[in-house]
Amino acid sequence: MTPEAYYGERYETLFLARRQMDELIEKFVRERGDSDDLKPVVYHTSRIKSPASLVEKISRKGATGTTFDDALAVGIHDIIGLRVNCAFIDDVYATACWIREQPQIAVLNEKDYIARPKPNGYRSLHLIVRVTEGPASLLPAVEIQLRTIAIDFWATLEHKMRYKKEIANPELMQVELKRCADEIAAVDLSMQAIRNVIRDGA
Ligand code: GTP
Ligand code: MG
Repeated sequence: MTPEAYYGERYETLFLARRQMDELIEKFVRERGDSDDLKPVVYHTSRIKSPASLVEKISRKGATGTTFDDALAVGIHDIIGLRVNCAFIDDVYATACWIREQPQIAVLNEKDYIARPKPNGYRSLHLIVRVTEGPASLLPAVEIQLRTIAIDFWATLEHKMRYKKEIANPELMQVELKRCADEIAAVDLSMQAIRNVIRDGA
């Protein structure tokens, strides 16, 4: 089913809410953009959750329904998702800090998988926010994921592997992916240290 058919008359609101989230991050980039340093956000993406993924998530949460209202009833908060990809770990936290300061944003929940990575090696900062103005305010919450571009590369591949059923040796792949995640995290720290030295002239 197409998103338009599934979400019906609320699709327009979701479309506008998604654009509002894109514009939020574009405002941040504009405000910080005139420094001669690298841009704080390298790229960002957003999405309206696909009907198939939403229906799968409702049943994963133990509910039986399949509609948008059923999703809201079980507290699914990522129907609109924004992903913000930064060059450096410091930028991830600086972006999150700016988001927290915005008067129209209330952070409902925060998960710092950078400070405390998942057992598979996943690292990202997740903010579940409530937006109090504009089309996004018609939703109970929006999910914002912030990560480095290096981790985004890993997470994109890991996500694909997870849904690929016919992997010959999944245990070995998990071990290898975890090793890559840890190596990427080490490189992110080194890149941050190099940046600090260049920027501060130390
Ligand atoms: P979901 O029910 O899947 O949304 O998980 P959750 O409610 O426990 O929240 P969590 O913060 O763990 O995950 C939210 C989202 O982060 C997921 O939908 C993914 O987009 C992303 N994510 C979380 N864990 C992983 C992971 O191990 N690998 C990848 N690639 N993405 C992840
Ligand atoms: Mg999710």
